Amino acid sequence: MKKTSHSLLPSLLTLALLLGSTKADPHPLQDYCIADTSKPFYLNGAPCIDPKLAASSHFTTAALSKPGNTKATPFGFSVKLTNVTNLPGLNTMGLTMARIDLDPNGLVPLHSHPRASEVTICIKGSLLVGFIDTSNYVFTQLLRPGESFVFPRGLIHFLYNMETMGSALAVSGLSSQNPGAQIAAVAAFTSKPSMPEEVLKKSFQISNQDVTRIRRNLGG
Ligand SMILES: *[C@@H]1O[C@H](CO)[C@@H](O)[C@H](O)[C@H]1NC(C)=O
Repeated sequence: MKKTSHSLLPSLLTLALLLGSTKADPHPLQDYCIADTSKPFYLNGAPCIDPKLAASSHFTTAALSKPGNTKATPFGFSVKLTNVTNLPGLNTMGLTMARIDLDPNGLVPLHSHPRASEVTICIKGSLLVGFIDTSNYVFTQLLRPGESFVFPRGLIHFLYNMETMGSALAVSGLSSQNPGAQIAAVAAFTSKPSMPEEVLKKSFQISNQDVTRIRRNLGG
């Protein structure tokens, strides 16, 4: 009996590991599945064009060649992403690349990606990055050019440009072709339709005036 339970242990461990492993997007069943973004129906991902029509241009994009508009929000950042529209060869690969530009003291505010882990590399500037785990512990790191940091899937994280004069640049890889993003403050205070005020007041232990002021500050 004792012997049996011992020999069972490795397979139980393997089973536990398999069940516990988090998967990126489903693996492709063919070399590539170049997104046909003209199809007027929805499925999990995009349908493929005829593989015979594949061209190099389907696998390349200049979408990240220029910074986005860092003035579009009060936070001083912009994010540009590859997706199946600008890089159709990415379809089913379980990948996204992001270009993140930050103004001096610009912040990518607390946010999460429900479908992807993210690894970021600081290209320029000095970036304070961090995430909060589910025990509410905060891991932070100051990144210099060439240094990388991982944000585990789904966890709330931020990137902050410590430079008061210079802008910062980072590039991230994400483990989904559609990572999704929710900025905590924006989601709570500028959702459409609006979150009931009582919910915000009680959640943050603030007054009606506080709710109004924060909404206005966030452009909601
Ligand atoms: C890809 O990104 C562009 C630019 O942000 C956007 O217009 C387009 O709708 C996106 N495509 C998909 C499939 O999300």
